[in-house]
Amino acid sequence: MNFYPLDDIASICEGYLKRFTVIGQDMLLVHSGGQTRLIPNRCPHDGSPLNRARLTDGCIQCPKHKITFRLDNGAALGGEAVADIPPLAHYELVEENGQVGILIKQ
Ligand code: FES
Repeated sequence: MNFYPLDDIASICEGYLKRFTVIGQDMLLVHSGGQTRLIPNRCPHDGSPLNRARLTDGCIQCPKHKITFRLDNGAALGGEAVADIPPLAHYELVEENGQVGILIKQ
């Protein structure tokens, strides 16, 4: 496994959102409410890109239909109305030498 750095930990702050292509996948590194997550740039509701999403209080709100997802467990907020929407996926992050990134098989 090789460490693939994404950004300096020191540059990640509340509301951080940056787009990356990692192993051919369109992803976003995001941070809000103490949660840093690497997520697909694709809303679990209807596939809309999330790179213009709003981040507040540990959640990300999709700009298309305004559904909000928790960053800690990926769940959509809204009770029964959103119960069948899959959770937001995320990839395991690793910190190394002051940088945050992921481990990639070589
Ligand atoms: S596509 Fe994201 S909320 Fe509908």
